[in-house]
Amino acid sequence: MAPAPQFSIEDVVIGRSARMRAVFDFVRVVADSDSSVLVTGETGTGKEMIANLIHESSPRRQKPFVPVSCAILTETLIESELFGHERGAFTGAVKDRPGRFELAQGGTIFLDDVDDVPMTMQVKLLRVLQNRTIERLGGTRAIPVDVRVITGTKRPLKEVVAEGRFREDLFYRLNVIPINLPPLRERREDVPILLEHFLRRFFAERGEEPRPIAPAVQQAFLRYPWPGNVRELENACERIAQTCTCETVRLGCVPINVLFHRHVEEQSPVVEAHQEPTAISLEERLREVELNLISWALKASGGNKSRAAELLNVKRSTLGDRVKKLGLEKLQARD
Ligand SMILES: Nc1ncnc2c1ncn2[C@@H]1O[C@H](COP(=O)(O)OP(=O)(O)OP(=O)(O)O)[C@@H](O)[C@H]1O
Ligand SMILES: [Mg+2]
Repeated sequence: MAPAPQFSIEDVVIGRSARMRAVFDFVRVVADSDSSVLVTGETGTGKEMIANLIHESSPRRQKPFVPVSCAILTETLIESELFGHERGAFTGAVKDRPGRFELAQGGTIFLDDVDDVPMTMQVKLLRVLQNRTIERLGGTRAIPVDVRVITGTKRPLKEVVAEGRFREDLFYRLNVIPINLPPLRERREDVPILLEHFLRRFFAERGEEPRPIAPAVQQAFLRYPWPGNVRELENACERIAQTCTCETVRLGCVPINVLFHRHVEEQSPVVEAHQEPTAISLEERLREVELNLISWALKASGGNKSRAAELLNVKRSTLGDRVKKLGLEKLQARD
C-alpha cells in the first residue's frame, strides 16, 4: 500500500465555489478505484491538473503519470506514441521504442483531447481497455499493461458520439466516472482567490514579497469573462508581476484586454474563414484605443488628471499632451 499523500487537495488546486468543492470531494472518492475517468471542460479549466490530482491521490501515486495530447497526432504517430513500435515497423523506426502505455506501467495515463482519436485507433484503444494488453507497432507480442486511464475532452463526448465520430462502446468504457469542470465565468467566486494565489506565486518567483491588490483590480477581474479560463487568468497575473512596479497592484497594471474586453472585441477586425479581410488603418485603430482608454481614465477619476495618469501608468504631463493631441479637453469640459 502506498503511503498517504503528503498534500491536501486544497493546497494545490484553488477553488472555493460549491462546484469546485464538489469536484474535490469527487476526486477523493474516485482516487482509490481503478475506474476510467472522463474529464470534460473548456480550454484552460484544469483538466490535466485534475487528472494529475486523481493520480497523486491514488494508490498509484508512486508510479508514473503520463499525459498525452491526442490532438496533434496523426494516425500512425498516435499508434506508435501510445503503443510503441519495434525496429523496422515503419520508415524511421530505427530502434524498438516503448509507447506511453508501457511508460505508464503501474501508474496513470491521461489522454487529452480523446475526441480527436481517429476511428481506426478507437477500435485499438477499446481492445486495450478490454484485454489490458498492448501490441507494439510491427510487434507480435501482447504486453500486459496495468494502467489507469483518464481521458479529457473540451466538448461533451456524447455529442461527438451523436455525430458518428466516436464509438459508443468506447465512450461507455471511458465514461465510467464523468467529471465536469465548470468554466470560470460560471464560478466567479473563485476569481479573487485565483488572482491572489497567482500574483503571490509570480511575485515570489521573482524573489518579491506579495503586494496588496487594489479593489478595482479585483472588480476588473470579476467583470472579465475569461474565455481562456484559469490559464488565461494565470497568464494575466504573470504579466502583471513582470510589469508592475507599484507598491499596490493598481488598475493601470492590469492587461488592457482584461480592462476593455468589450471595446477590444468590437474594435478587432473580424476575419471570418473564407472571407476576404478588409484593410484597416493601424493608425486609426491605435487612435481609437488611446481615445477610449483616456476617456475611461478621465471618467473613472472624475476628471482628475493626476489620478487618470496614475490609472494609465503614465506621467501627468504625458497624459496632458495626449489629451490635447486627441482633442479630449473639450469633451472633458462638456462632461
Ligand atoms: N483550480 C486551479 N487552481 C490552480 N491552478 C489551476 C486551476 N485550474 C487550472 N489551473 C492552472 O491553469 C493552467 C491550465 O490548466 P490545465 O492545463 O490543467 O487545463 P486544461 O483544461 O487541461 O487545458 P487544455 O484544454 O487547454 O488542455 C495550468 O497552469 C494549471 O496549473
Ligand atoms: Mg490539457
